Amino acid sequence: MWHFASKITQKLPAETAHNVAVKALSLGLGPKMHVPSLPVRLGNLSLRNPLGLAAGFDKNAEAYHGAHHLGFGFVEVGTITPLPQPGNPRPRVFRLTEDEAVINRYGFNGQGMIAAAKRLAKRDKKNGPIIGVNIGANKLTKDKPQDYYKTAHYLAHLADYVTVNISSPNTPGLRDLQDGEALKITLQATFDGLKEAGTDRPVFVKLAPDLSKTALLQSLEAATAFDISGVILTNTTITRPDDLTSPHRDEAGGLSGRPVAELSQQALASAVAYRGDSYKSLSLISVGGISSARDVYLRLILGADATQLYSALSLQGPDLPAHILTELDKMLALEGGSVHGGNLSGIMASEPDLAKAIKRADSLYQAMLSSTDKAR
Ligand SMILES: Cc1cc2nc3c(=O)[nH]c(=O)nc-3n(C[C@H](O)[C@H](O)[C@H](O)COP(=O)(O)O)c2cc1C
Repeated sequence: MWHFASKITQKLPAETAHNVAVKALSLGLGPKMHVPSLPVRLGNLSLRNPLGLAAGFDKNAEAYHGAHHLGFGFVEVGTITPLPQPGNPRPRVFRLTEDEAVINRYGFNGQGMIAAAKRLAKRDKKNGPIIGVNIGANKLTKDKPQDYYKTAHYLAHLADYVTVNISSPNTPGLRDLQDGEALKITLQATFDGLKEAGTDRPVFVKLAPDLSKTALLQSLEAATAFDISGVILTNTTITRPDDLTSPHRDEAGGLSGRPVAELSQQALASAVAYRGDSYKSLSLISVGGISSARDVYLRLILGADATQLYSALSLQGPDLPAHILTELDKMLALEGGSVHGGNLSGIMASEPDLAKAIKRADSLYQAMLSSTDKAR
């Protein structure tokens, strides 16, 4: 039934399909998938598996329970801004099916922090998901760091972690907050918000894939001057690879899905090198172009503590997280020679060389596919 419903929504305009999916999940109409248990630690948090739903799907914290039932190990809601705002004019999100990609220029359309807080207050802490609350600034705010103060102050106590999103390309000036001094001011405002609310929560910083290696290292230096728990790499890209073939390729906005995978992997590899021995406790969440167990495995062996996806879910439908986790479990079983899946901690950060990691992920994934074929 779900396969059928998702085929129908694929025919709807992208934003309508997104709204239908959020509504269905918020009403509890989504599937309840069984997924293998693949527990990992993300700083102080215990995740049931290392695959999370990235920010942007559940912007107003309406559908996180439904997303949990799809199998995700954690759910990041938002981006949430202090005030409600309409976002950019429609159409503002496009499927690039031929390129396995999406372009969006939503512009933080959302109901604002008061509406989101009301919903988050109702969460089922015992049986529900681990929730990250991704915060941002309103378009018309002149003092942007002040918006991070407000949202951290108002929302952090309802979250398991807070993400400071300074990397969406669709709010003018937002990405400038990644620069050293501006990032320090923004993080100071965020931590002030937490402190004055009397709340202590892990803080993550979400960065763009379009930073040069030098700029990325500068952002990491500025961020690690604070007591952050980790970094999320990466948001969407404003670049357009030459080989895109979809008619929507020149739409303005952030590009996500397969074409951002390489940039995201490189950013992860740089962050792993930066972490080294000096910032051992820094958690890294890898996101961008993940659509298979091979991709999750690759990011984990490179050094990610957890992963997220969004575009592949919108292109492939609600079975995807369970499919990925089942295949990941099989890959681990094959590698570890166990029937019930393997131990994730044994493979994490085991191959920091990107080229070698890609080879290893490709060959284990192929081996898993052929052993599954043989078993049929
Ligand atoms: C339609 C759409 C809306 C998004 N909105 C947000 C957002 O509000 N905040 C944010 O931090 N990232 C947002 N993102 C970025 C995703 O969280 C993710 O970082 C990026 O899409 C790369 O992952 P993917 O290739 O799996 O989609 C959005 C992405 C898409 C496709």
